[in-house]
Amino acid sequence: MKSKSIIYIKSANQVVTVKGASQLPKRGRDLSELGIIENGSVILVDDRIAFAGTDDEAVNYLDTVTGNVTTINAAGKVVTPGLVDPHTHLIFAGSREKEFEMRLQGVKYIDILKQGGGILSSTKSTREATLEQLVEQSCVRLNRLLQHGVTTVEAKSGYGLTVEDELKQLRAARRLNELHPVDLVSTFMGAHAVPAEYKENPEAFVSLITDEMIPLVASENLAEFCDVFCEEGVFTVKQSERILEAGKRYGLKPKIHADEIVYTGGAELAVKVGAVSAEHLLQASDEGIRKLAGSQTIAVLLPATAFFLMEQPARARTMIEEGVAVALSTDCNPGSSPTQSMPFVMNAACITMRMTPAEVLAAATINAAHAIGRADQIGSIEAGKKADIVLFNASNYQMLQYNFAVNLVDTVIKNGRIAVK
Ligand code: NIG
Ligand code: FE
Repeated sequence: MKSKSIIYIKSANQVVTVKGASQLPKRGRDLSELGIIENGSVILVDDRIAFAGTDDEAVNYLDTVTGNVTTINAAGKVVTPGLVDPHTHLIFAGSREKEFEMRLQGVKYIDILKQGGGILSSTKSTREATLEQLVEQSCVRLNRLLQHGVTTVEAKSGYGLTVEDELKQLRAARRLNELHPVDLVSTFMGAHAVPAEYKENPEAFVSLITDEMIPLVASENLAEFCDVFCEEGVFTVKQSERILEAGKRYGLKPKIHADEIVYTGGAELAVKVGAVSAEHLLQASDEGIRKLAGSQTIAVLLPATAFFLMEQPARARTMIEEGVAVALSTDCNPGSSPTQSMPFVMNAACITMRMTPAEVLAAATINAAHAIGRADQIGSIEAGKKADIVLFNASNYQMLQYNFAVNLVDTVIKNGRIAVK
């Protein structure tokens, strides 16, 4: 029998388990309950977490298992679950730094899209790229996400906008998932923008999505979720509902880019269709927030996007006080958030939305896992979950946010193997 591979992480200043009292997403005060173990140890056996507890308890536990032990001394460090990034547009070709300069001169993000740039500019470069080129360019970004502590990433399509190019993007995500230690979770987002060829007839593009793209994506098992950019001038609430309901009929769980630039009622629609998550929410109404609070939908907040678009961020404090389950994500994409740093997002959540260091850790781990339907496997340090762990060069978890815009990642363990050291 093959000998077990054991990683024994010992003497950490703090092991932040993020373990909750229940299996449900964290809300309100519970969002700050991090289950911290001072002077803690974590023991990983093969690709699973076997034990988390104090150093003394760990010594006893170690006596009960046999295998090849690698010991990591975590003295002076904080140990957390692998960070989860539940909203990215990771798979694309090219870049849009010229639009960044236009926006610095006052041109609006949405006006660039309306003039055929923005998402449509990345669509052009993504259509021109081969699957191999997409994998290669996206792999660079995925490596950076990993170096910043992320061990699971959601990735959306939406820069193909033809049947073949949407499938190409999703197949590139599948390929990258096979090649790379980080786990990718795929979302079909054919409804990211209306391509030029359908400008005069957007309803026909909606039908292409519902009648052709969704059935093909489902038959090839290329995505778990279906997302829509529900926004003035992009997809209406009615069209979004049609697309998300079509996705549901094919087993794709709904997600929504909601109330990002202007209020449209996206948060309300998220609750109506039973969305797993509603994202952005910069302009969400009081009513939308109340509805989210009374639902299972996770609010995925993207403070790096608000920062990069130079907009007011989402009302995280109101949401948390009303009882909404919030998560955080990079929104990594070439137009509104060209970053691969979850630590920056977590810093920005504190500084621009006044979330506390404790809240952001839970929002970037267990609640982010809930936002992609993976909370039973990842997002906290609990026996039985995947051995996805990060060691940070910080003496306590508050230091992670206090010492901002630097990468404090020391070691990343993915599936029980050291992936970054
Ligand atoms: O989440 N809002 C729509 N989609 C992305 C931006 C994509 C892009 O600009 O390329 C977002 O911000
Ligand atoms: Fe997005």
